[in-house]
Amino acid sequence: MSDRDLGAQTVGLGVCGVPSGPEAYLMELIRHDEQQLAPVEQVAEYRRTMARSKAAASVARQQASVLDKESDAAREAISVAIDAEANCLEAEAAAGRWLDDLLRRGERERQGGDRAKSQLVTLPDLGVTRMESSRWQEIAEIPDDIRSRYVETVKRSQQRWLSRQRLLRIWREEQAERRRQEPVRISEPGAPLVIPGDFRVVLTEEVIPDSTVDAIITDPPYPREYIELFDDLSRFAARVLKPSGLLVAMCGQSYLFEYLGSLSTQLAYRWTAAYITQGPRTRVHAAHVGTGWKPLLLFQRRDARNVPFLLDDLFDSRGDDKRFHHWGQSESGMAAIVERLSSPGALVVDPFLGGGTTAVVCRDLERRFIGCDIDKAAVNVTQERLAS
Ligand SMILES: C[S@@+](CC[C@H](N)C(=O)[O-])C[C@H]1O[C@@H](n2cnc3c(N)ncnc32)[C@H](O)[C@@H]1O
Repeated sequence: MSDRDLGAQTVGLGVCGVPSGPEAYLMELIRHDEQQLAPVEQVAEYRRTMARSKAAASVARQQASVLDKESDAAREAISVAIDAEANCLEAEAAAGRWLDDLLRRGERERQGGDRAKSQLVTLPDLGVTRMESSRWQEIAEIPDDIRSRYVETVKRSQQRWLSRQRLLRIWREEQAERRRQEPVRISEPGAPLVIPGDFRVVLTEEVIPDSTVDAIITDPPYPREYIELFDDLSRFAARVLKPSGLLVAMCGQSYLFEYLGSLSTQLAYRWTAAYITQGPRTRVHAAHVGTGWKPLLLFQRRDARNVPFLLDDLFDSRGDDKRFHHWGQSESGMAAIVERLSSPGALVVDPFLGGGTTAVVCRDLERRFIGCDIDKAAVNVTQERLAS
């Protein structure tokens, strides 16, 4: 077969009047390249708007700082700063919606077998970090009217700052209120209940009543910016665990002190077990260590009773499994934990599902299961995995 034939066959062109052969193949490559460039430029545009808004806010605040606080001019400058910050949030929301749409389209194309187009949708291709992506999508989830109502409240009450955290809290409270109106859902053995959303919002008293859970077996995100989640996890566990119940939190070692401190706020420390991973050692450059195990932090209620004996504190995993989640654990490792730290029929909860390894293992080992994840894509993967 000649090069010409090969080119025409690869792109399926060669119809009368339409370029065929290597030229067509080249044009298709250029078109594909242009398609990739467009989203990259779109990201740059969003970033420019965010940077301009931040700069405008900073200039306005500097002006306000040299004026008499009570003067109209200072109030005006603060108001301009708040508008600029609101503009930045709006750009983040727009970027989040756009990214979500792009990722969904990419996923649909991937599932439809169109590999060429699906290359458009990876975050590294776009130069967007995972942190940025979740930051933008987090803001995008907040309905516009809630965001603008918050901005108006800040201005009216003469507060000086827009707080991202405060806005997110308002949104979480609204969602929690909505969930409270929904009927109770119950998990049966073999039919895990998997819910999209932040565990602090979706795992309410209606979904999981107090003192009903036998084990929380979970693998929260380890980076520094997630440490505050361990405080909330401690509060959640203290509410839902039975007196004989156990929290098992897998974690890294870099912020071990912080995790232990946070989990201790509402619970009693029991033990640190070892989750031993096969395969090459993971290098933790900051600590100059190659490691082959992770701590499993075991906590229980402060008024714990009838806690089962743990005969062995070593748990083996046959390596990680990144097919379903970039932080995924193996089914073998999770099964070792679930099997030894809960009994058939027990209610197990994982508030940080990721690719759903705990859910799958619990279904297979006949535990009842409730889990959630803030990332809708992770919940979709879990549901697909459970359905297969
Ligand atoms: C380390 S991963 C879990 C991986 C999982 N063990 C597996 O095998 O696939 C942690 C997960 O927690 C989720 N997450 C982070 N913050 C959350 C929150 N506030 N509520 C619920 N899920 C959250 C992340 O989206 C991520 O999927």
